[in-house]
Amino acid sequence: MVKFQCSIAINLVLLQRLLALVASQSFDFFYFVQQWPGSYCNTKQSCCYPTTGKPAVDFGIHGLWPNRNNGSHPYDCYPKKPFNLSEISDLESSMQKDWPTLACPSSDGQNFWSHEWKRHGICSESVLDQHAYFKTALGLKQKANLLQALKNAGITPGGSYSLKSIHNAITESAGYTPWIECNKDSSGNYQLYQIYLCVDTSGSKLIKCPVFPKGTCSSEIEFPSF
Ligand SMILES: *[C@@H]1O[C@H](CO)[C@@H](O)[C@H](O)[C@H]1NC(C)=O
Ligand SMILES: *[C@@H]1O[C@H](CO)[C@@H](O)[C@H](O)[C@H]1NC(C)=O
Repeated sequence: MVKFQCSIAINLVLLQRLLALVASQSFDFFYFVQQWPGSYCNTKQSCCYPTTGKPAVDFGIHGLWPNRNNGSHPYDCYPKKPFNLSEISDLESSMQKDWPTLACPSSDGQNFWSHEWKRHGICSESVLDQHAYFKTALGLKQKANLLQALKNAGITPGGSYSLKSIHNAITESAGYTPWIECNKDSSGNYQLYQIYLCVDTSGSKLIKCPVFPKGTCSSEIEFPSF
């Protein structure tokens, strides 16, 4: 009887751990985050072009990040499989073009992609395996076409624009209000750094953001050239 109670107790502990693990890995939507290379590179910290050369003058993917409606995000997710570049070899040239690394020292991007997978992608592995995860993000970039959306509203690199006009241009084209993240150039001016759109848990369609990240921009921001 003692032994029986003991094993029930152990099972309860295991069950609690399992439930905690499932809760820690749950998510409600993705943030699809794209960054403007001009704003990455003109900071005090500067940047390094990838070994494959200077990226196109376009937004680049930063990542597809599982998040929860209450603002938290899953963490400590355990991979069924580690990052494996050969599983996405068919996507590699698109990745180099649309998901370029700007970190120093200069590299081919593998470290960036592996980081994004290990830090974020793995937490959505129950829905998107590694290949589907990267392919989904690449597809979303084409769909969002941010640079064109801004151009259509007369917003082009090398100028200064109201934050509101940038919001409006993207809302007009994407159908939902984006989140704009600013950083500062080397002189301390706020500038357009990253644009967040929200995506449903299957990665197939844009949705209204259930919650926005926090951060500061000024009402007028730079959109630097690259
Ligand atoms: C948000 O939800 C998760 C999962 O249910 C929970 O673990 C976390 O504590 C919640 N965070 C906040 C800030 O409410
Ligand atoms: C990586 O993926 C390839 C292609 O699917 C596979 O042949 C190889 O065994 C995988 N490597 C590891 C370490 O899992």
